[in-house]
Amino acid sequence: MKLTLLSTTLTFGLAFSNPHRARGSLTEWAPAGPDDFRGPCPMMNTLANHAFLNHNGKNLTQDVVVGALTQALNFNESVATIMFQQALIANPEPNATFFSLDDLNRHNILEHDASMSRLDAFFGNNHIFNQIVFDTTTVFWTADTLDANMLANGKISRQLQSKAFNPNYTFTSTTEQFSLGEVAAPILIFGDIPSATVNKSLVEFFFQNEKLPVELGWTKQANAISLSDVLRMTQVISNATSLITGSSDASHATKRRDFHFGFAF
Ligand code: HEM
Ligand SMILES: [Mg+2]
Repeated sequence: MKLTLLSTTLTFGLAFSNPHRARGSLTEWAPAGPDDFRGPCPMMNTLANHAFLNHNGKNLTQDVVVGALTQALNFNESVATIMFQQALIANPEPNATFFSLDDLNRHNILEHDASMSRLDAFFGNNHIFNQIVFDTTTVFWTADTLDANMLANGKISRQLQSKAFNPNYTFTSTTEQFSLGEVAAPILIFGDIPSATVNKSLVEFFFQNEKLPVELGWTKQANAISLSDVLRMTQVISNATSLITGSSDASHATKRRDFHFGFAF
């Protein structure tokens, strides 16, 4: 009797120490069935396939999404909450408290042109993984270990293709911030955050299977991913998208700076 009471107390203690329901697992995995919703985000789809998110992809509340991002990927609670809040806009209902994965397909709300692995809406399905599109991105992933430059080159190439051939090409400065975050995300989740690099096979496996690459040896980050990690990685990718190289001509750079100071004062 005493033992039962003790174990009940312990169970309750554990349940309450984590405000989010434990659900899903790294070993559990099933692709979407015919009535399940999936969207343009390879990670949201992956988390649904592992049942960290509702497997049907519907009614994703803050509790569910924050629980999935913290437990499966080791985001800290505040970053996970920000990500959830930013996603609510995808639900067309006013004052929505949840979204579904197919809400994310709405073009130019969160989904945008020039994705790394999906067609532009103008050309067809904007949310299902597309190997041909992905191949045009991975041409720029030129080593077994990806760095920010390779990822950034893939991103720029997709934008240039869209700008050249999609008459509806749309990519605002807000889109750019989301896009940089998406390009940075594989490093944050699967890579080495200090060196901003990631094993290419983990990233390809994830995109192609919408499954966490546990069988390739991946484990979640040991330290919770913080807002400063996200901001730093986004900045590293942003810097790598520049097509201007550093100048070796120091005197020229100095002259230019003087010129600007001359105007400022
Ligand atoms: C609440 C959490 C999240 C939401 C609502 C969300 C939503 C989205 C949406 C709407 C897109 C489509 C953008 C496009 O048109 O390409 C997208 C793309 C993407 N997301 Fe997420 N996402 C979330 C979290 C994550 C996380 C944690 C990762 C970590 C790996 C991730 C990785 C990606 C990647 C790599 C893409 C780009 C796909 C491509 O360019 O083909 N997302 N996400
Ligand atoms: Mg897209």
